[in-house]
Amino acid sequence: MTVRPNSIASRDVAYVVHAYTNLRRHEQDGPMMITRGEGIRVYDENGKEYIEGLAGLWCAGLGFSEKRLVKAATEQMEKLPFYHTFASKANEPTALLAEKLVSHLPKPLAKVFFANSGSEANDSAVKMVWYYNNALGRPEKKKIISRQKGYHGVTIAAASLTGLAYAQTDFDLPIKNIIHTGCPHHYRFAEPGESEEAFAQRRAKELEDMILAEGPETVAAFIGEPVMGAGGVIVPPKGYWDAVQKVCRKYDVLVICDEVICGFGRTGNWFGANTLNIVPDIMTMAKQLSAAYLPISAVAISQKVYDVIADNSNKRATFGHGYTYSAHPVPAAVALETLKIYEERDIVSHVRRVGPYMQEQLGKRFANHPLVGEVRGVGLIAAIEMVADKKSRALFDPAGKVGAYIAARATEHGLIVRPLVDAIGFCPPMIITEQEIDQMLDRFAKALDDGLAFAKSEGLAKAA
Ligand SMILES: Cc1ncc(COP(=O)(O)O)c(C=O)c1O
Repeated sequence: MTVRPNSIASRDVAYVVHAYTNLRRHEQDGPMMITRGEGIRVYDENGKEYIEGLAGLWCAGLGFSEKRLVKAATEQMEKLPFYHTFASKANEPTALLAEKLVSHLPKPLAKVFFANSGSEANDSAVKMVWYYNNALGRPEKKKIISRQKGYHGVTIAAASLTGLAYAQTDFDLPIKNIIHTGCPHHYRFAEPGESEEAFAQRRAKELEDMILAEGPETVAAFIGEPVMGAGGVIVPPKGYWDAVQKVCRKYDVLVICDEVICGFGRTGNWFGANTLNIVPDIMTMAKQLSAAYLPISAVAISQKVYDVIADNSNKRATFGHGYTYSAHPVPAAVALETLKIYEERDIVSHVRRVGPYMQEQLGKRFANHPLVGEVRGVGLIAAIEMVADKKSRALFDPAGKVGAYIAARATEHGLIVRPLVDAIGFCPPMIITEQEIDQMLDRFAKALDDGLAFAKSEGLAKAA
């Protein structure tokens, strides 16, 4: 791509440090400039139309043109454009948002702290867990167990929780007291012939062994996404969360549920915790909380955790945590309106209708494709994993080349999807219709065939 001098793209290349980008390659290739959105689609600077197959970054659940959210933001901007929650200050949208959120949260979650991103929410959760155990006079009980391939963000603690090398390499992470247990991906990690249930029990046993090896008196919490997102859209095997929670309860280990992707209808229930029967002590949320129209995240805690923290804040004269923009009234107003829209349009029922359709079509159309190893997902989140050899499930070498190629071809065919190494993630705006799902998959089918031709020409796929 040639970047025209004096264009917006050339200014981008000149001045912007991009997130999760090969910065040198970006200097050469230039940006993909998105200029507007409508429904499930976005348009680039040349007017080319794309279906947003990942709802941006798993976040724009109501698509890209919801006028009610614009109105909610504008009205709040006019009334009170900023205020904070330090030293007992409060604002109306935040109080109403917290109340509505709690009405939908699984028990025993009862109180909500607000932040600005999923990473901040997870960092806040970690700090709360440490504060909680210090308050209880258990200064040793600090370790947090996360999982390989889990994604929890990029701030210091969140990136440490993330179990993917790219978030840690050369950043001197993870920090101490954060350790990782195995990924619950049956297709990839089960022994030959091992059932889902047996694999789930094995993973739970490994967790228990880890807690015992570390010393239960040193392990404070376990964190997991109900369904892993960025790690490859991994739906855990049957019985996994039941078994894991049993282990956590046995050793007084708090369960933190990261709902940053799964929350707000994505899996066909209000929360992934509902879908997978998780009873969290702490839950983190972001993204679809405001349909991504403005940044806001939340940490919900149980009354039990809250009471310990509140008592300690009384002892210390303050709960010494909070961001300038915690509970900013404008994103709070937008999030409140988002939740009202989810309720009024019954987004959960919509996902329950179209989600199974998407999963079924993905399976029907692609499971037998020579490049496809596994089709997996739940609700309106899914992934297709490509493999070098369908029979042995061998990974591509080098990893990621085929996935990146297919995602790039999908863009050419008018579909934005995310390569997750050699899997392709699907997480379209939740307002998608069955007809739009068909269109999305038609575009993907072309990209997948391009990928097969590419894998053949590069000698990467055995089946090819
Ligand atoms: C499950 C999960 N947790 C946390 C985060 C971090 O959120 P943010 O990028 O808003 O910091 C993400 C981001 O994709 C995520 O998928």
